Amino acid sequence: MFASEILSAGMYVPPGVVTNHDLSKLMDTTDEWITQRSGIKERRWVAPEVTTSDLALKAAEEAIQKAGIAKEEIDLIVFATLSPDHEFPGTGVFLQHKLGLAGCASLDIRQACSGFLYGLSVADQFIKTGMYKTVLLVGAEIHSKGMDKTTRGRDVAVLFGDGAGAVVLRRTDVNNPSRILSTHLHAEGAHAQELWVQAPGMNLGGDRMTMAMIEEGMQYPKMNGKKVFTHAIRRMAEVLHEGLAQNNMKLDDIDLFLFHQANLRINEMVAQELKIPAEKVFNTIQKYGNTTAATIPIGMTEAVRAGQLKKGMMVASAAFGSGFTWASAIYRW
Ligand code: COA
Repeated sequence: MFASEILSAGMYVPPGVVTNHDLSKLMDTTDEWITQRSGIKERRWVAPEVTTSDLALKAAEEAIQKAGIAKEEIDLIVFATLSPDHEFPGTGVFLQHKLGLAGCASLDIRQACSGFLYGLSVADQFIKTGMYKTVLLVGAEIHSKGMDKTTRGRDVAVLFGDGAGAVVLRRTDVNNPSRILSTHLHAEGAHAQELWVQAPGMNLGGDRMTMAMIEEGMQYPKMNGKKVFTHAIRRMAEVLHEGLAQNNMKLDDIDLFLFHQANLRINEMVAQELKIPAEKVFNTIQKYGNTTAATIPIGMTEAVRAGQLKKGMMVASAAFGSGFTWASAIYRW
C-alpha cells in the first residue's frame, strides 16, 4: 500500500500591488468597508500580457526545486483554476509545455475555491493506487482580467486577487509519518447559481456568447455574499470535524490550520466556533485577497518561510466555494 507525501510548496504573486485605496479610484468603495468586511488590505494584479500558466510556472519551478526532484520525474500535472488561459484545452497542458515537459498526463480541476483540495485528493488517489509516483499540483488564478472593476461589480471585485501556488507530491510508504492522512470532498449543486459566471455557456438559449450578454455583464462573476458567508462557516467546520473523526483526532492534535482565504471574517468565525487559538490559523488574505485555487499552497509556502510550518507538524486544511463545493484534508508535513 502506498501513501502520498507533500515534498514541497512554492508560490508566485505578480509584483503589481493594488491597495484598497487604489480600488476606491475605480469604484465606489472605501478601505474601511473592505477591511471591516473581509480583512483584505491589498491584492496583486498581473500586467496585461501575463497569463495564468505564467504564474503557475513560477510557483511550480519553486516547488520542483525545493522538492529536489528532476522535473522529468513528474508523472501527472493537476491544475486547479477557474481562470484558465483559454476555454479549452485545460491550462495544465500550457504549463507542461512551459516547463519543457511532454508526455506526462495533465488534468484540470474546476472546483473553484475548493479546487486545490479536490486536486490534492485526486493526486493522492492516483498515488495510492500505484498508478503514478510523482504529481505536480498547481492552483493558479488571474481574477483581475475577469471581474467587473466598476461600482456594479464592487462586491466581488474587492475580494479577489491574482496568484499561484504549487506542491510536489510523491509516493511514500503508508508508515511514513509525513503523509496525507485523509481528504474529504463534498458538493451541493442546488446552490450553483449563488456564485458563478453565467456566460459563455451552452445553457443560454442559443449562442454561447452574444454582444447582448456582454452588455448585460453576464461574463462577470456574480455572488450572493451573505449566503456564501453563512454556508462557508457551517461547511468548513463540518468538514474539519469529518476529517478529525476519520483519523480519531481532536482539534488539539492539529498544529496548524491552513484554510482557504475567502474572507478573514469567515476564518475567524470558523476558528471561534471550533475554539481554535488564533495563533494556530495561518492567514495571508490581508496581502493577497482571495486567490481561489492558489490560497492554500500560497499559505503552505509562506508558513514554511515564516517558520510556522515545520517538518512533522500535523496540518488541517478546509475550503469552501462555488458549486457549492467544500473539502478538507488532514496531513502531516
Ligand atoms: N464597497 C462599498 N460598499 C459595498 C461594496 C464595496 N466593495 N460591495 C457591496 N457594497 C454595499 C452593497 O451595495 C450593499 O449596499 P446597500 O445596503 O445600500 O444595498 C452593502 O454594501 C452590503 O453591505 P453588507 O450587507 O454589510 O454586506 P455583507 O456584510 O454581506 O458583506 C461581503 C459583503 C461580500 C463582504 C460578504 O457577504 C462576504 O464576504 N461573503 C462571502 C464572500 C466570499 O467569501 N466569496 C468567495 C467564496 S470562495
